[in-house]
Amino acid sequence: MSPGALPGFRDFYPTELAERSFIFGGWREVAREYGFVEYDGPPLEPLDLYTKKSGAEIVDQLYNFTDKGKREVALRPEMTPTLARMVAARANAMRKPVRWFSIPQLFRYERAQRGRLREHFQLNMDIVGEADVSADAELIASAIDAMRVFGLTNEDVVARVSDRRLLNALLRGIGVPEQQLGAAYAALDKLDRDPRDVLEQRLETAGVGSEPRARLFELARAAANESDFARLVRDAGASAEYDELRRYLAHTEALGVRDWVRLDLSIVRGLAYYTGIVFELFDAKGELRAICGGGRYDTLLESLGGVSLPALGFGMGDVVLGELLRARGKMPPAAPALDVWVAYGESGSVESAMRVAAKLRARGRSVEYALGHQKLARQLKAAHAAGARQTVVVATPELSDGEAMVRRMADGGEQKVQLDAWIASE
Ligand code: HAM
Repeated sequence: MSPGALPGFRDFYPTELAERSFIFGGWREVAREYGFVEYDGPPLEPLDLYTKKSGAEIVDQLYNFTDKGKREVALRPEMTPTLARMVAARANAMRKPVRWFSIPQLFRYERAQRGRLREHFQLNMDIVGEADVSADAELIASAIDAMRVFGLTNEDVVARVSDRRLLNALLRGIGVPEQQLGAAYAALDKLDRDPRDVLEQRLETAGVGSEPRARLFELARAAANESDFARLVRDAGASAEYDELRRYLAHTEALGVRDWVRLDLSIVRGLAYYTGIVFELFDAKGELRAICGGGRYDTLLESLGGVSLPALGFGMGDVVLGELLRARGKMPPAAPALDVWVAYGESGSVESAMRVAAKLRARGRSVEYALGHQKLARQLKAAHAAGARQTVVVATPELSDGEAMVRRMADGGEQKVQLDAWIASE
């Protein structure tokens, strides 16, 4: 048996690679529209880059080993620590805010399932050096435009937003003590998945009293209704934090993306370093895993690079987005790549085709012809199978010297031409 790819790893045959390139093309287009410049880092990093700040979930999923120089290393499971290190190292020399994007391949030893593999590509867009919520609004607008660029609308995708500062203030306000915040976060995170009594039980075990428990669920539900939510926020004494979030929402209106955005306190994010507004993009039907996740991480550059700079960003994976594009019929069929097929008749040879191909390629056309010796009929079949835009036939008894027959493959239209003049016009 020939060995297949490892579980959770993909072979990209040309069809799949064309889809991947289509996604990357859309991402690059949006990054350019928002003024982001591309960077990259090493796929292998020191292990402690992730063990310090990323949080337990991702550390459990690391592909790590000891290298031949006895260094503890890991394949990158995410890009943010690399970005933080790179920017921190040259922060003084950079124009702020820094707007950088990258499309790294990342590795996580996850249980492979629908939408989750052990490698994926991820668009990362990050802004460093701006603390104002206008940057948060700019960031989510770019993530939403990375949906629009593929023809998706707010009927296909919803952006769910929360704010860790607001959430902390609310939780304190309803009587959840500091040491129980983790349990409250975990319950919110599972709100959609686990039944309420299971969550209640977990919170109780963590020591959260019955009054704060009830108010926690009330809060999570109320986020969808602005006036209910505003009242709860006032009662909990979290108005200052809420004002920030309202300013952010007003900015999303100005940027034309407000109707994609929904306040949702159950968006907690698995990574430990977020400090402010966080968000995730989901398919609106709720059938797939998250398409994208990110938020503000104002202390990470300080802890990884010793430079205190506010920062924010998101990661958008190619796996779930690809599934959604296929499900909504937004993944275009691969375009034919071949401009010309050159065929020759019985008064020529493969070298007749080679000479024409060489001239056309020198003009930048993509050209193929049958290798080895083949009958004309077979060459023409091969031209069809290759999806060539047109075929030029040379060296048949019907053609005089210097003549060729050009056939448009789409409609079969044929035309006799002077070969050199035709090549010069191609
Ligand atoms: P994340 O939420 O871990 O965030 O990943 C972001 C997105 O990457 C997910 O929403 C999902 O689409 C995709 N993704 C993650 N893991 C997998 C997997 N195993 N298979 C397929 N797709 C996956 C981060 O990685 C943060 N570093 C993002 C960020 C950038 N925050 C600030 N800047």
